[in-house]
Amino acid sequence: MARGPLPTEGPWWQGTVGYEIYVRSFADSDGDGIGDLPGVRSRLPYLADLGVDVIWLTPFYPSPQADHGYDVADYLGVEPRYGDLDDLAGLIDDAHELGLRVVIDLVPNHTSDQHPWFLDARQGRDAEHRGYYVWRDPGPDGGPPNNWVSHFGGPAWTLDEASGQYFMHLFLPEQPDLNWASAAVRAEFETILDTWFGRGVDGVRIDVAHSLVEDPQFRDNPRLSEPLPADADPNLLFDRFTHVHDIDQPGVLDIYRDWHQLAAQHDALLLGEVFLLDADKLARYVAGDALHAAFCFDTLKVAWDADAIRDTLAPYVRASGDALAWPLSSHDDPHAATRFGGGKIGARRALAYLTLLCGLPGSPYLFQGDELGLSDGRLPPGVAEDPIAVRNPGAVGRDGCRTPMLWAPGEGFGFTTGTPWLPFGDDRHDDQTVAAQLGDPGSQLERTRDLLAARRRLPVLTDGSPTEWVLDEGPVVAIERGGEVLVALHVGDGEGDARLVLPEGARLAFGTDPGVVLIDDELLLPEDSAAIVELEPDEPDLSAALDAEDRALIDAVDDARIAAVERGTEDAA
Ligand code: GLC
Repeated sequence: MARGPLPTEGPWWQGTVGYEIYVRSFADSDGDGIGDLPGVRSRLPYLADLGVDVIWLTPFYPSPQADHGYDVADYLGVEPRYGDLDDLAGLIDDAHELGLRVVIDLVPNHTSDQHPWFLDARQGRDAEHRGYYVWRDPGPDGGPPNNWVSHFGGPAWTLDEASGQYFMHLFLPEQPDLNWASAAVRAEFETILDTWFGRGVDGVRIDVAHSLVEDPQFRDNPRLSEPLPADADPNLLFDRFTHVHDIDQPGVLDIYRDWHQLAAQHDALLLGEVFLLDADKLARYVAGDALHAAFCFDTLKVAWDADAIRDTLAPYVRASGDALAWPLSSHDDPHAATRFGGGKIGARRALAYLTLLCGLPGSPYLFQGDELGLSDGRLPPGVAEDPIAVRNPGAVGRDGCRTPMLWAPGEGFGFTTGTPWLPFGDDRHDDQTVAAQLGDPGSQLERTRDLLAARRRLPVLTDGSPTEWVLDEGPVVAIERGGEVLVALHVGDGEGDARLVLPEGARLAFGTDPGVVLIDDELLLPEDSAAIVELEPDEPDLSAALDAEDRALIDAVDDARIAAVERGTEDAA
C-alpha cells in the first residue's frame, strides 16, 4: 500500500530518506549474473516497507562499462543488459504507486569514448562535435598541456594521434570530459533533463557536480609536495595537488541555475555529488537557486570519535541547513560497517551512526546492504572489476562495497540464478540475508525499519526545524531538533553506559538496541548505541495516572532492565 508523503510544507524532497541502488549488484531477474531494472522493480515493495522515500538508481544507460556505467554512450537509452525503456517506465510507475520517488544518475562531466559525439569529435579538428570536448595542443615539451591528473591514475590528458591534440579526462581515457563552455553541450543537457523529467523521473543525482567547468586558461594546479611514484594509489596522487583550476570553478553554478528553472517546471530534484570536503564551499552549491541539495561526503570520512563527528558535521548544518544529503555508505566507499570496525561491532555502530544521520536536517542516504548491517564483501585476489584497481596495481578499488545484495539463503543468495558478475565475498552467510532478518525484531533490518518509522512519526525531524548541538564534549554526540526531539549517539570511551538526564515526561521513540532505556528522566545509552527521544510528547504519559500497584510493577520491570543492562545482557527488552 502506498504511504503518504512526509508531513512537510516544503518541497517534496524535504526530509526524505534516500536509498542508493547500485543497479548492477541489486537484483538479477534473468540469470545473467548482472542486476537489472526488472530486478529492481521486483524489490520495490521491500524498499517501501523498509521506509525509504527516494531510490537513486546508478547509471543504467547504454555503456561500454569501462567504469560500470559512468561512461555513458547514450543519455536517453537503457543498456540492454539492464533492460529497456519499458522496464524503466514500469519501474517508475510501480515506485510511484508505492509512494517512492525515483532519482536517476546524470553524468554530465564526461561521456563514454564510444558516445557518438566523441566518435565524431575524433574525426578531426573540423568535426561537428569537436567542440563538445576539451582539446588542447601539446605543452611546450610536446607532452600534456598541463599538470592535471586523473582521479583514476595518470595524467588527465590523452593524445589523439590523428589530430596531434590532447583531450582531457578527469577520469579514464574512456571518459572524455565534455566542454561546458560550449553552448551546444548546454543545450543537449537541457534536452536530456527535460526528456527524463517528462518520462516521470523525480530528480537527478548529478555525478561529480563540482567538476564540469575548468579554468579557461588551463593553468597548472599548484603541487603540494614532490610527486609520488607513478603506480601509487590514484587518490594519493590526486591529493598531491591543490585543485584550484580543474574543479569547483565558479561558472559551474550558472549551469545549475539554468537547470533549476527547468527542474522547477517538473517539481524535480537536483541533488549534487559535490565532492568538496569543506562546509562553506559546499554551501555555495545549494545557496539561492542552484542545486536543491548536495551530498556531504564527510559523513563517509569522519572517524568513530565524538569530537570528530561534532566538529566535522556541525559546520555543514550551520552552512547549508537541510539542503544536505548524508550518505551512510556509497558505491565508491566502504560500507559504514566496514569503516567502523567490521563484523557485529561495525554493524552496531553503523546503525547508531545512521540514527544520528536521521536526526540531522536534510536526508540520510542508505546504500544497499546497509540495512542488513553488511560490511564490504571480502574478495579473493584476481577478481577486481573496478578500473581503479585493475589499472593501478596496489590500489584497493571499490569492488568490496559493490558485491551483490544478499536476498535469500543459498547459492546465488537470491541475487542471481547464474554466476554473479562479482563474487559475493567469502565472508557472506545465509543469516545476513534479507529473508533471514525479516521478522526478527532484533535484526539490523528490523531495527533499521523501526528507526525510519520513528523518524517519520516525528515531523520535527523532517520539516527543517532548527538543530542545536547540545553537548560540547564527551563521548555522546547529541542534537536537539526544534527543542522537541533529542537524538543522541554514544560512540563509547571504554567507560560503559552513558546516562543523560532529560526533562520529565520525555519518551523514548527509538533505541538501537534493548540496552537503550529511558527510566524516569534518565536515558541509559550503552557504548555504540543511539536513541531518539521525544522531549515533550503530545500525549500525556499514562504512567502518571497509574495506581500505586501498577507503579510498583513498572518499577520492578525497570529495576530488572537496569540490572540486565549492567550485566551487559541483551534480554532486557
Ligand atoms: C562519481 C561516481 C563514481 C564514478 C565517477 C566517474 O564519483 O560516483 O562511481 O566512477 O564519478 O563518473
